[in-house]
Amino acid sequence: MTRPKIVAGNWKMNKTAEEAKALTADVINLSRAELKGKAKLILCVPFPFLMQTRAQTDGSAVGVGAQNCSEHDSGAYTGEVSATMLKSAGIPYVILGHSERRQYFGENGPLLAKKVDKVLATGLTPIFCCGEPLEIREKGTHETLVKEQVQQSLFHLSADDLKKVIIAYEPVWAIGTGKTASSQQAQEMHAVIRKHIAGKYGDAVAQSIPILYGGSVKPDNAKELFACQDVDGGLVGGASLKARDFIDIAKGAE
Ligand code: PGA
Repeated sequence: MTRPKIVAGNWKMNKTAEEAKALTADVINLSRAELKGKAKLILCVPFPFLMQTRAQTDGSAVGVGAQNCSEHDSGAYTGEVSATMLKSAGIPYVILGHSERRQYFGENGPLLAKKVDKVLATGLTPIFCCGEPLEIREKGTHETLVKEQVQQSLFHLSADDLKKVIIAYEPVWAIGTGKTASSQQAQEMHAVIRKHIAGKYGDAVAQSIPILYGGSVKPDNAKELFACQDVDGGLVGGASLKARDFIDIAKGAE
């Protein structure tokens, strides 16, 4: 089965409103001029820029996503943003469980299961992140940990709901470090995740789910990574802050 290729930019906590506007405009223009439209581009931007990025991308093929949302519907949760708010603002995607959220904000499997539920119930598409820290990779227990992460937050879903999820495998030791997983390491882990899903949901469901790779994806390694059988595109941090690099990465998915 051919799965769609997806290249999502995770801007993290970067850019001013003006810079965000310029970067979005550059991505739209370059993608129109240079890409064949075979890969779906998504810009996951900070909350204050969501509306302007959405307005800019209206009528283009570029999608917009948030980087997190609350597990609650509404109410006295100062500083939080709900899936319903994102939906009402016309934002179709949201990253959940990024390793920085797990590491600095104490997000864990059961909490992320609740966030996944809210996001799916609202009709948005979660980009669910998993991946092992360096010490786990060195111990050799990375497969067990990543399978656990997927199981804890996704395996309560029905097959129909699971099919709406985009998964991103991001080894923590490769995020922002310039140290990319080799295409072989990426392929191995993506296959592990897919096989784990197949074990519970069957092969057809497992084969339908896009699994993106994240961690120091750059223009010069994207093509090789995205060519792997089970790698369906990328979640790109640092390199998504430059339109030129982001578009060159997307070319690797076409
Ligand atoms: P990086 O980040 O591309 O800067 O390594 C990826 C991510 O954290 O999503």
